[in-house]
Amino acid sequence: MSEPTTSRTVTVTINGTMVEREVATSKLLVHFLRDDLDLTGTHIGCDTGNCGACTVQVGGEAVKSCMMLAVQADGLDVTTVEGLAGDSGVLTPLQRSFGEHHALQCGYCTPGMLMSATALLEHTPHPTEDEVKVALQGNICRCTGYWNIVEAVVAAGKSGSA
Ligand code: FES
Ligand code: FES
Repeated sequence: MSEPTTSRTVTVTINGTMVEREVATSKLLVHFLRDDLDLTGTHIGCDTGNCGACTVQVGGEAVKSCMMLAVQADGLDVTTVEGLAGDSGVLTPLQRSFGEHHALQCGYCTPGMLMSATALLEHTPHPTEDEVKVALQGNICRCTGYWNIVEAVVAAGKSGSA
């Protein structure tokens, strides 16, 4: 006999918009974002907390959303990669820097990289290479060799904003 699914109503502010949903207490935040809210910019690479493709910001901190239940985000602000450019659609300096420095190839890791790097730049506006490497150590990229990503983040810091 299968266990009954329990659910709870959660209220989360996603990319500046408050949403209220009934959600299974066992549902991961990444599945809530992708399946319930259609925010598919947040990727799933491993589902085990290793790759960082699912990184979002929760309460201003970079969080791997496959390591957190949706109900744990109740009452909190969540920002996904879709929220970086905002309603205007104008890319952030960091997003532009990724393009300018060829910091993506297939792009699978890119949302997670951007979210981790954005959190870094909010806390440390002008990071050194070493600080960028530490901040991105939980994000795996199988394409770029990482150097262009580090360069893009350092350059965004030098330009003065995320
Ligand atoms: S999908 Fe979350 S860390 Fe890989
Ligand atoms: S650009 Fe392909 S995994 Fe990073």
